[in-house]
Amino acid sequence: MCGIVAYVGPNPAFPIVIEGLKRLEYRGYDSAGIATIEKDGALTVSKKKGKVADLTSHIGKLTPTGSIGMGHTRWATHGPPNDINAHPHKGASDRLAIIHNGIIENFATIKESLKCRGHNLASETDSEVLAHLIEEVLDTSSLGLFDAVRAALSQVVGAYALVVIDKKNPGRLIAARKSSPLVIGIGEDGAYYVASDATPIISHTKNVVYLEDEEVASLDVESGLRIRTISNDIITPEVHALEIELESIEKGGYEHFMLKEIFEQPQSIRDSIRGRINLQLGEIKMQGIDDHWEKWENASRILILGCGTSWHAGLVAEYLFEEFARIPVEVEYASEFRYRNPIIRPDDVVIAISQSGETADTLAAIKTAKEVGAHVFGVCNVVGSSIPRETDSGAYTHAGPEIGVASTKAFTSQVAVLSMMALHIGNKKGNIPRERFTRLIAELNNIPELVEQVLDQAPRIDEIAKQFSKAENALYLGRGYQFPIALEGALKLKEISYIHAEGYPAAEMKHGPIALIDDDMPVIFIAPMDDVYEKVVSNVQEVKARGGRLLGVVTEGDKDVASLADHIIEIPRCDDALAPLLSVVPLQLLSYRMAVLRDCNVDQPRNLAKSVTVE
Ligand code: AGP
Repeated sequence: MCGIVAYVGPNPAFPIVIEGLKRLEYRGYDSAGIATIEKDGALTVSKKKGKVADLTSHIGKLTPTGSIGMGHTRWATHGPPNDINAHPHKGASDRLAIIHNGIIENFATIKESLKCRGHNLASETDSEVLAHLIEEVLDTSSLGLFDAVRAALSQVVGAYALVVIDKKNPGRLIAARKSSPLVIGIGEDGAYYVASDATPIISHTKNVVYLEDEEVASLDVESGLRIRTISNDIITPEVHALEIELESIEKGGYEHFMLKEIFEQPQSIRDSIRGRINLQLGEIKMQGIDDHWEKWENASRILILGCGTSWHAGLVAEYLFEEFARIPVEVEYASEFRYRNPIIRPDDVVIAISQSGETADTLAAIKTAKEVGAHVFGVCNVVGSSIPRETDSGAYTHAGPEIGVASTKAFTSQVAVLSMMALHIGNKKGNIPRERFTRLIAELNNIPELVEQVLDQAPRIDEIAKQFSKAENALYLGRGYQFPIALEGALKLKEISYIHAEGYPAAEMKHGPIALIDDDMPVIFIAPMDDVYEKVVSNVQEVKARGGRLLGVVTEGDKDVASLADHIIEIPRCDDALAPLLSVVPLQLLSYRMAVLRDCNVDQPRNLAKSVTVE
């Protein structure tokens, strides 16, 4: 995905836009650009391969002074990262510029027809066709800018978050959205802001309007905010107050956002639980479930959809729901599910898990499930994002903004919410003995304190990371509830340190992966004292007998794994079902420190973006 930010108001746009791009850089960072309209009416465009810092160095000290401007930080889809493919893009003349996030699916057809009409497009991108299309409508009709953008977009198939500036309308931004997020900020001083999410807006205003799909907004310092649909229906803007605080999107003294977010987990889990566990009454409150209880009570199957780390949270949920809710669960990669012509029954309940709420494959999979009448429940972290708008009900994880590309606090908040869901449904269905239920919710309520104990071991984990930071491969092994944690630990390591890491069920090791074991191979066992502990100890012995450099994540006081492993990290004892919330934390810290030791860009790993809004 890309980052979009724009400003029009009484102040110079350049510093506001550049600051906004820095806050959005986690969304995509292979190239960046900015366009302004100057007081003399000139349209300026500067763009560069690389990060926002490279752009500002390129621009130098003579920065634009215009009070309308927009910026873009790119994650390349069509055309490699380079200066020409960077946004903003101009049309055939110097009249207007656009920035775009999304994919224009029929761009090749549009591009060919534009070329036939004499347009020369400079870049390899799909986005550039929008600039030429809008300009052509302006040049060949009597339509104003607002209507010309609507007319041009009516020819477009695909997803767009789009901002247009036009030097013949120097006091006006035009913004449009379809399947790619855009937030409008309304400043006290008559200024307007547009951005891909709230992070560039929060330091200027808390009053926002979430643009809906197929809506086009005109933000004019004189005529104010107007919104129309593509088909020209007038929309009354609904102003919301932002819930996030500025400090939640700052590093707060940590070297990286990822480290800050790892250490925020006691608080983010508390925030996920808050208002949902009532120890006095011995109950869990999940309004999104209770409002549609008949769907859950009669569900013949639960389908869990997600990508990456969210898919791993879904795998933990599979164990939770089958143990407590006693409903069969299938966990699917959203990207596979949507193209597989899946069998979905109206009495299926679908849980869609997404931190960003913008992952294109997850969004599309939800639409596939809804087409056949399945009830869709969303577990998301970003209020007002696309997925919560699409689902029938849901629960926000309330983890706060997660800026680091590698997901950490969002994962543990997802697992906390999914744990409460499974326990709540199991309790309502009478599947869980009262004593066990009240003990479990008390333990879950206390998990933040136990996470703090795990975080206290960070210095020890840093020392262990030094032993492994030069590895080229790694194997993560776990059973039962810890199998998804093995996968998650491996993903954390590979995506920020670029070490090839794989997660496996520990028992599966003998069916192939054991061939990988040699004296150099780090093998990380997640082996808390749970129902399958003895089996995992046998696996540890099998690896030990064949070399391998062993690290065990174990329950405090462990003796068996401790006697076999080269290093151990102890986690507090807790119920098997809640142990994933603790065992993942050492793996997050281990991968973080190994990546730092390898001089990797932890918050913005190569080739990645925070949310994959393209298919
Ligand atoms: C996790 O660390 C990765 N950043 C990635 O796998 C991520 O979990 C995946 O892209 C899904 O994102 P979402 O939760 O926002 O849908």
